Amino acid sequence: MTEKEKREVTEVSEAQIAVHWQEEGYYHASPKFIAQANMTDETVYDRFSLDNFPNCFKEYADLLDWYEYWHTTLDTSDAPCWKWFVGGKINASYNCVDRHLAKNKNKTAIHFVPELEEEKVEHITYQELYVRVNEFTAILQDFCGLKAGDRVTLHMPMVPELAITMLACARLGVIHSQVFGGFSGKACSDRIVDSKSDVLITMDAYYRGGKILDHKEKADIAVAEAAKENQKVQKVLVWQRYPGKYSAQTPMVDGRDFFVNDLLKKYYGKRIEPVRMPAEAPLFLMYTSGTTGKPKGCQHSTGGYLAYVTGTSKYVQDIHPEDVYWCMADIGWITGHSYIVYGPLALGASTVIFEGIPNYPDAGRCWRIAQDLDVNIFHTAPTTIRALRKIGPDEPRKYNYFFKHMTTVGEPIEPEVWRWYHEVVGKGKAAIVDTWWQTETGGFLCSTLPALKPMKPGSAGPGMPGIHPIIFDEDGNTLPKGAGKAGNICIQNPWPGGFQTIWGDRDRFVRQYYTRYCKNPASKDWRDWPYLTGDAAVEAPDGYIRILGRIDDVINVSGHRLGTKELESAALVVPEVAEAAVVPVKHDIKGIEPDLYVALKPGVAATPELAKKISDAIVREIGPIAKPRKVWIVPDMPKTRSGKIMRRVLGSISNKSDVGDVMTLANPEVVELITKMVQG
Ligand code: WT7
Repeated sequence: MTEKEKREVTEVSEAQIAVHWQEEGYYHASPKFIAQANMTDETVYDRFSLDNFPNCFKEYADLLDWYEYWHTTLDTSDAPCWKWFVGGKINASYNCVDRHLAKNKNKTAIHFVPELEEEKVEHITYQELYVRVNEFTAILQDFCGLKAGDRVTLHMPMVPELAITMLACARLGVIHSQVFGGFSGKACSDRIVDSKSDVLITMDAYYRGGKILDHKEKADIAVAEAAKENQKVQKVLVWQRYPGKYSAQTPMVDGRDFFVNDLLKKYYGKRIEPVRMPAEAPLFLMYTSGTTGKPKGCQHSTGGYLAYVTGTSKYVQDIHPEDVYWCMADIGWITGHSYIVYGPLALGASTVIFEGIPNYPDAGRCWRIAQDLDVNIFHTAPTTIRALRKIGPDEPRKYNYFFKHMTTVGEPIEPEVWRWYHEVVGKGKAAIVDTWWQTETGGFLCSTLPALKPMKPGSAGPGMPGIHPIIFDEDGNTLPKGAGKAGNICIQNPWPGGFQTIWGDRDRFVRQYYTRYCKNPASKDWRDWPYLTGDAAVEAPDGYIRILGRIDDVINVSGHRLGTKELESAALVVPEVAEAAVVPVKHDIKGIEPDLYVALKPGVAATPELAKKISDAIVREIGPIAKPRKVWIVPDMPKTRSGKIMRRVLGSISNKSDVGDVMTLANPEVVELITKMVQG
């Protein structure tokens, strides 16, 4: 293939359809916010300069309690698999629970807000968290026989038992792999198989949109599907949404399924010493979508990860022990791991876990929660902000709450939406941070430090202290600040929160994240290994970075990452489908939505029933978040002469933008046909 042809087959990427916003003016945090902020010392950027790398990160590690201090801050001998704080011994559960008991045992660790408003909010103190984590740890150790290094899959909704389960695993050094509760049983089984988990931990049911959903049925599917791949799940532990009462319809399987609340009786009063784990031992896996069909397990470390999320929770989220902090992400995503559970709890804060959806029973729900719990730090994603703005643009004004600080995360936020967030949700007073990062990176990459740098709508801001971004063009030239051109944003240096590898696939890890701009694959020097984020970005003259979206075939729907290949293979499960192509389409609330194009096998008729069957297959294989906007059954896919599907053309049609010159295609006539079908 010539270079030109290569460019032609480029699939449409989010970055290509990104809106080209104007640069906005600055907004400044209030003197009141600055006066109380955790980080007000401008020298922090110097302390974390490349000259002081990697020792600068000692500042973050020193926020934790270590059993043994490390001897090597950064070991690069297995580049690019970095090891942080080598020689150090630490336990994440100890740092998030036990160490707060002496002074704060009586303080709320978790405020659990059930979806039904008539149910009482549960306030779990650090002492109670300690007891519940210990007793559940005893089940894992004694009843399940689990030990450090074993993997356990969790498929749980937004309940405190999820945090308890994670902290119990961490207490033993057992590697947890939590699968987003909204994912299907099949998606859960893929992760069980890949991580080789013998134990699945789930819950019988949970509320969503006012309905109680049977969640246990997904466990049955997951176990059955995993068995087909020769991964036998020995035990399924089932938490009950209402302890002592079974809220699912699906029967328990004798000898395989166990109610946690029954088992707990035997372990009443048990206390389990936290296991002293090496800093570089894996803490958890978080699966995310990549450029191929198979989700990959991002392996996060214990010491480095915990240090990074604790430091960033303190300095970017500005969490003080007396704050009530509410991050409305799902713990099934990395945001929830880092900024609902590990970061806030390591700091001894009170963190809110909300079971429900933001718009149930009405547009005021979030603001009532904020008012009642006196939440003062709020953290959510643009997709939620857009939705809240649409359903209740004036709703926040009706409630008496005060946010000192708010976060946006997960996708680019339109300046218009940002301003509503600032003026209406934040009542013009909250400092806002737009945090750009990824499942892989463990914590924030770019953000302003709220008391030190002004906010700029639509921009994430500069690199975090100790994170040194660089933007390369296709040929590896650096695009300097103010170049006015977008390029591939990379990070020049390792940082403690970065994932260690892809579980079981080091080659894929190196290939996907480190090969693109590596000058010398034999090098053991971190300077030779820029980390490729997969995003396109522009850097303004002031060093603020605006993220445009993905450059690869990953799409970001409502802040959730989906691989287009994943969706396409789910569509191909339907026997009538011959070819499938997924493209991102702009959407008012979700940011991006997938459009699915399919071509059928010869002789199969295109019917609305078939389109629905294909859409249902995607929901079944992956989950409702992956549901396409529309299934377009086309007579043929636009193709290059070499037979590759031109996703770029399909993307332009779906987004009603110019398809460009299509005369070089093998079948240019089909473009007009599809355009008529889609655009009417
Ligand atoms: C992708 C990572 C970060 C945790 C939640 C998502 C996009 C993330 C921003 C932001 C613009 C953003 C990027 C990134 N993204 N934050 N503040 N502004 N884009 O984690 O599922 O791993 O997705 O989300 O495209 O690569 P994820």
